[in-house]
Amino acid sequence: MRDLAGRVAVVTGGGSGIGRGIALGLAAEEMTVAVADIRVESAEAVAAEINEGGGRAFAVAVDVTSVESLELAAKQVASEAGALHLLCANAGVLAQIAPLDDTTVEDWEYTLSVNVLGVVKTVQAFLPLLRKSAPDAHIVNTASLGGLISSPDLPIGAYTASKYACVGYSESLRAELAVEGIGVSVLCPSVVTSDLIATSTQNRPKGYGEQTTRSYDAPPDVADSHPASVPSMPAEEVGPIVVAGVRANRLHILTHPETRSRVEERFGSISDDYAFAAKNEAKP
Ligand SMILES: NC(=O)c1ccc[n+]([C@@H]2O[C@H](COP(=O)([O-])OP(=O)(O)OC[C@H]3O[C@@H](n4cnc5c(N)ncnc54)[C@H](O)[C@@H]3O)[C@@H](O)[C@H]2O)c1
Repeated sequence: MRDLAGRVAVVTGGGSGIGRGIALGLAAEEMTVAVADIRVESAEAVAAEINEGGGRAFAVAVDVTSVESLELAAKQVASEAGALHLLCANAGVLAQIAPLDDTTVEDWEYTLSVNVLGVVKTVQAFLPLLRKSAPDAHIVNTASLGGLISSPDLPIGAYTASKYACVGYSESLRAELAVEGIGVSVLCPSVVTSDLIATSTQNRPKGYGEQTTRSYDAPPDVADSHPASVPSMPAEEVGPIVVAGVRANRLHILTHPETRSRVEERFGSISDDYAFAAKNEAKP
């Protein structure tokens, strides 16, 4: 989808951080932006920021873990904007920073409910509307660099597992929707300035119990390419990166070129394991 002006986008988690950055970037391309968030006041603030800057936006209250809430949101977008061309399923949580041994079942359930099923439910709710615009239709799911590599010295195992799932889901979805002319990208940012830890605590439903976040200091000797040591990118810079990725229909939309070596290291280790397997097969 190369032409964005005059078209309509939804951004979940649009009230803060990366979602706000995407919403501002899309508004700058003259898209009408439905800023959707569970914290409706933050969605309203971002919509107001866009409208005051001469763009077009409106707020949508949505909880991406609820099919009912998402269906209401899709109806609101259809009635207020009349169409949908770009869906950014961006809402996500970092439920805790703690070793897996200290990660409760409730931490896992909260993480997966938003980062995996929240993305799946968002796509299911908005796809009927999006299909009406095909082939001028595109989906961007926000995963993370943590969906391409794990970080053994950064204790976020449940988050990493959820983001790997988001990448796998997005790659499968891209293959399935290509025949309908609908593009799918997965945004895999490294560190971006946001309120992720604060909003994840604030939005955590009571049923999932207390958060087990601990203070975390990056190990002093981490490589420059490590997610814990790359400079935090201002969220406003992510918007133009997403715009370029959508226009070029990239599968992975990436930030922080310095993290490339970490991804190559992972593929290198898989390749080594193939070499090991081949040697073992050769043995009688
Ligand atoms: N900030 C980073 O360094 C970073 C890096 C890689 C990936 N990400 C991913 O980017 C996405 C955006 O996170 P962010 O860092 O901008 O954090 P953020 O907390 O600033 O923004 C997340 C927004 O999502 C909303 N949200 C949370 N749960 C929701 C729900 N159930 N329904 C609707 N909205 C909900 C929050 O209210 C918040 O406004 C997440 O998927 C996150 O995992 C962030």
